Amino acid sequence: MASLIVAGGTPLSGTIRVSGAKNAALPILAASLLSERPVALYDCPRLRDVKNMLAILGALGVRWAWDEEKLLLDTSAANAYVMPQGLSKELRSSIFMLGPLLARFGHAVCTFPGGCEIGHRPIDLHLRGLTMLGVGIREEHGLILCDGHSMTGADIHLDYPSVGATENIMMAAVRAEGETVIQNAAREPEIEDLQTFLRKLGYGVWGAGSSTIRISGGRGCADHMSEGGPAERDCIAHRVIPDRIVAGTLLCAAAITGGEVTLCNAVPAHIASVMAKLRESGCSIRAEGDVIRIAAHARPREIKLIETLPYPGFPTDMQAQFFALCTVADGTSMIVENVFENRFKHGAELLRMGASFTQKDRTIVIRGVERLMGTRVVARDLRGGAALTLAGLAAEGETIVENAELIDRGYERLDKMLASLGAVIRREDAETEEP
Ligand code: UD1
Repeated sequence: MASLIVAGGTPLSGTIRVSGAKNAALPILAASLLSERPVALYDCPRLRDVKNMLAILGALGVRWAWDEEKLLLDTSAANAYVMPQGLSKELRSSIFMLGPLLARFGHAVCTFPGGCEIGHRPIDLHLRGLTMLGVGIREEHGLILCDGHSMTGADIHLDYPSVGATENIMMAAVRAEGETVIQNAAREPEIEDLQTFLRKLGYGVWGAGSSTIRISGGRGCADHMSEGGPAERDCIAHRVIPDRIVAGTLLCAAAITGGEVTLCNAVPAHIASVMAKLRESGCSIRAEGDVIRIAAHARPREIKLIETLPYPGFPTDMQAQFFALCTVADGTSMIVENVFENRFKHGAELLRMGASFTQKDRTIVIRGVERLMGTRVVARDLRGGAALTLAGLAAEGETIVENAELIDRGYERLDKMLASLGAVIRREDAETEEP
């Protein structure tokens, strides 16, 4: 059990580098199983979810090691296709392993994945897509048993542009004989990063970033191997894209404290929708190259409407942080959560801090108050926990965010990032008592 203890009232200021994206790193780690050569991954964030994914890979025979800032992976000795059950339950992204395992071994066995409690998160789109590639899927005693020894390319139209399903199908399809076309594919930047990585491994994948992705599949990839000197041929090097949600969270932290912050290693195009809403709230934002500067000198203004949508719409992963921002805005704001049905758990905690809002189904109407009051609150999920920390930065007195280990799933020590910008924040890790 960890807690973040925040003393509110200090405007943030300073410069901070944005870390690599969790949601890009996780599928890339899974895709490393498809590499015939060792992989050197740069900017892979050291997060709890990454640690769990590495433990899963380790259990399947993958060797990995951190070499300062670089994560080295050698999947040549991978020898198992049965996912460790306990670890899979910890991490929803363990479902990404299905595609690569099928591509590598022709078989995969996993359990229903775990992850943040943000609503019912089915995997029907993943399984339907794999079925269309010719994978035989059975469910037995809570296990999903997949047989993909004769996968063939297919035209797959997703009912919804699911990020995970798009990635899983891409990874399986690289070894499905013939061409696979995914229509209504998710368009998130992390999918483009996965495509870049798969192409470095020598696979034919095109179209990521648009709604139609084409994969030219088949056994073996040596023919397409990238060119270069012996050193480059030894190892596939890849740098993970910057985390747009970490960037957005830090911008919100500046906005809620009336601060002035500069982000470097950011991709402004990836957070255009977030920057638009921050401008609507009165912040001045300038973006140039990979640098974003935000200045927020006054109380935030109301934001008329935020509707979460698949990319390039407003990200659901930024909804909670904007919820916190709107609680102290001058005026009434509205948020509609379209992506996940149960993603307002931070609301009840914000109420305890003096926020004022009403909820009907997936819509929240927030009447901004002049000041929140610090108190003891509980993080219920990753982004909700980050939002409560931001609320604490703006609150009068001390806020204690319990269950902070949930925040570690997506931020490399959010407390340290905020402290480096002048926030008065510390972390306490309670010892768990022996039973
Ligand atoms: C990914 C991100 C997560 C983000 C989400 C939406 C990773 C590791 N996680 O999650 O941070 O919040 O995208 O941007 O990249 N759905 C189905 N059936 C399926 C799959 C999904 O009904 O088989 C539904 C989900 O319940 C949800 C919606 O589709 O309502 C979006 O889910 P999806 O895009 O798949 O999100 P994830 O890949 O789980």
